[in-house]
Amino acid sequence: MTSHQIRQAFLDFFRSKEHLIVHSAPLVAKNDPTLMFNNSGMAQFKDYFLGNGTPPSRRIADTQKCLRVSGKHNDLEDVGFDTYHHTMFEMLGNWSFGDYFKKEAIAWAWELLTEVYKLPKDRLYVSVFEGNASDGVPFDQEAWDLWKGIVGEDRIILGNKKDNFWEMGDTGPCGPCSEIHVDLRTPAEVAAVSGKSLVNNDHPQVVEIWNLVFMQFERKADGSLIPLPATHVDTGMGFERLCMAIQQKTSNYDTDVFQNTIQVLETLSGRKYGSGEEPFADIAMRVISDHIRAVAFAITDGQLPSNVKAGYVIRRILRRAVRYGYSYLGFQEPFFYKLVSVLSAQFKDVFPELTAQEEFVAKVILEEEKSFLRTLESGLKRLDTITTTLKTKGINTIPGDEVFELSDTFGFPVDLTALIAREKGLLVDEAGFQDALAEQKKRSRQDAAKEATDWIELREADGVEFLGYDFEETHSHIVKYRKVKTKTGEEYHIVLDRTPFYAEMGGQVGDTGVLVLKGDEREEREEGGRRITIVDTKKENDLFVHISRDKNLDDILQNAGIVTAKIDLNRREKIQANHSATHLMLSAMREVLGTHIGQKGSYLNDEVLRFDFSHFTKVTDEELAKIEDRVNEKIRDNIALDERRNVPIQQALDAGATATFGEKYGDFVRLIIFDPTYSFELCGGTHVPSTGKIGVFKFISEGSVSAGVRRVEAVTGEKALELLRDQEAVLTKIKELLKSPTDLVKAVESLLDERSNLQKKITFLENEKIQSLKTSLVANMEKHKTFNLIVEKVQVPSADSLKQLSYELRDQIENLIAVFGAEIGGKPQLSVFIAENIVQETGLNAGKIVKELAQEIRGGGGGQPFFATAGGSDASGLDNALAKAKGLF
Ligand code: ALA
Repeated sequence: MTSHQIRQAFLDFFRSKEHLIVHSAPLVAKNDPTLMFNNSGMAQFKDYFLGNGTPPSRRIADTQKCLRVSGKHNDLEDVGFDTYHHTMFEMLGNWSFGDYFKKEAIAWAWELLTEVYKLPKDRLYVSVFEGNASDGVPFDQEAWDLWKGIVGEDRIILGNKKDNFWEMGDTGPCGPCSEIHVDLRTPAEVAAVSGKSLVNNDHPQVVEIWNLVFMQFERKADGSLIPLPATHVDTGMGFERLCMAIQQKTSNYDTDVFQNTIQVLETLSGRKYGSGEEPFADIAMRVISDHIRAVAFAITDGQLPSNVKAGYVIRRILRRAVRYGYSYLGFQEPFFYKLVSVLSAQFKDVFPELTAQEEFVAKVILEEEKSFLRTLESGLKRLDTITTTLKTKGINTIPGDEVFELSDTFGFPVDLTALIAREKGLLVDEAGFQDALAEQKKRSRQDAAKEATDWIELREADGVEFLGYDFEETHSHIVKYRKVKTKTGEEYHIVLDRTPFYAEMGGQVGDTGVLVLKGDEREEREEGGRRITIVDTKKENDLFVHISRDKNLDDILQNAGIVTAKIDLNRREKIQANHSATHLMLSAMREVLGTHIGQKGSYLNDEVLRFDFSHFTKVTDEELAKIEDRVNEKIRDNIALDERRNVPIQQALDAGATATFGEKYGDFVRLIIFDPTYSFELCGGTHVPSTGKIGVFKFISEGSVSAGVRRVEAVTGEKALELLRDQEAVLTKIKELLKSPTDLVKAVESLLDERSNLQKKITFLENEKIQSLKTSLVANMEKHKTFNLIVEKVQVPSADSLKQLSYELRDQIENLIAVFGAEIGGKPQLSVFIAENIVQETGLNAGKIVKELAQEIRGGGGGQPFFATAGGSDASGLDNALAKAKGLF
């Protein structure tokens, strides 16, 4: 079976068991503070397990793009060195949300593996949770009994909490699990050592392929477990390992999932994979063919490489790949981006989002590669200096802090430093490096510190009802709250059963407002009833979290009863004007710049809208003006909002709606339409009822964010007016200063002309002055036997004039020594000139002399032996300095 057929057979099998097949969620996790990337199939369904949302079906199956490179599950350092770990991998999964449980999950897994995929039964082992006393979770007897009926006791292994109790993160849904392992060794190896003893022992051919998790608990922040409202099934099968087992290979990289990229690497590098001649070249090909998937799909799903957070993780993966290519495959030029087209062709039917953005993704990778190769070069130079210095000192180990600096500043990984060091006969202080690294990690942990208590539950609620599309206030109950310590103080996070507060999402900031207690407006007005100020609203999975920085709210929250939740409507109206304007702008950009324009980031609040988009050149002023005109035309048309809710996603896409890559859409979506032939987008944000409400639209900036991505900022309505007023005020002021000329531009131009004419005059006059000064200086000159001496305090306009004066006198007088003092702009200046022939004959040095004289004016200076200058801070010392000069010659 090809990998395509294997994937399809999985989906078909579960479809036949009445599962709804859904698309993979984006690789980049949204709205989940505990997760950067989706690290398992269940991540997108977390809320269904917690009871915060309702799934579209109680049985779901899919293949999910996963990334395990940060947080609890991190396999990065193993990738490439072994043959069965990956950064990005596909997880095939089937789920029951309060529907079937252990019996069906186990029976179906066995049926699929042995009857559809025809894996030999005598090569499969299963594990069952042995229980854990401190957590109070007993041995999983039920799973044991079910498996006993299928495989027999000799194939069941008991597993501990580490292997057989699955948790997604430090908190959240979890439960005991049963893993299925496969033994892929040769018959002779199997005869020699039993496969059972090798399960969970890091044997590359005895590996776990499927994990069946029986979700029963939620892990709280204090470490305790509480039962979930209902029991669920969450399974995850490693697609690449499954392919290895079915295709009877001994490495994931030998399957058709990776062979395409490996073959391209063979051609590009002129090396043969697996020839055994250069083990590191094999590792490099594995690293690269793995990492290109993580990097390309992360960029596809909206995560550009950067210097912070998730962007930094992607940049590090990219650099790890490029570095392996550089060190072991001889790639001195960008190569990594060339693999994007290979992936795009391979996955066009599974993850078409990559194919749709192939050119963009390749371009971003190419630019990153170029810049990293430059960094590598400067790192190599730095390393060269370090090694040379150490060698001259007879030291043979590069200190840990130097290794750390190379890695932190130059992106130079420690193993590369070690490799180069080895070539030069040096070692690296690995332990010192680890210390420096640990120190840095500690610092960043402290920076990120945010401690939350567990939720304090006040009442049952079946998810939250968001009413903010239709209402600005609602009568609500407080469902739960928690206290969070932040770097700046303490916050309360409050969850309501229904809310008009929009939670930050899709670039639109969260609402602010108040919760008015007692729910009685009259009482509130008359008695000044209490209000809780909400400073922000954020989404955490499907929860709407209202954030307050008010103090001591516990009692109030616990006894609140019904509250009136009220948003700051004025602010919201400004926000939604910016949001609707963003939609109108995107359509105008596509008309003016081309249909390749795709959203790469968006942020909008009540003041400004910021929009990042894929485009390879600067947007010219003419283009910006055209876009602006088009948007304002649509505003004046006052197009009414056509909002449609709960539209099946396929229907929306078929009708031509614009979707943003990397956004997570459910099966039913909301459409925001301002004239179906103009702006037609999938969007969860809030919008103006008609475009006229936007008022006016004005760009304020355009620039580059990263390779292939540009950013514009614009303002609307009142803000635009404010901007125009500010600019007008500046103009008025200028007019006033220029005595209200009829033509302001002409007036400024003639002012500039006048200025340049005056400048010319000044230069002329200064020159004249120097000429007459010269005459009087020559008249006062002291003639000595071997030299002519001028020591004078002069009045000149600039320090440069001292030089000019000295040089002109040199051309006129032989054997000249000239020392000048001057006060320029209140500061003392000195210059010393000594004719070149005197310098040569006597060894006198103007630089040294000026330094000595400068002491008198509390300053310093220097220059060449024949001419030097000094500046100082005490002008009253000038006379002394000149007197001293006279004494020197
Ligand atoms: N969520 C489970 C895992 O990732 C299936 O192993």
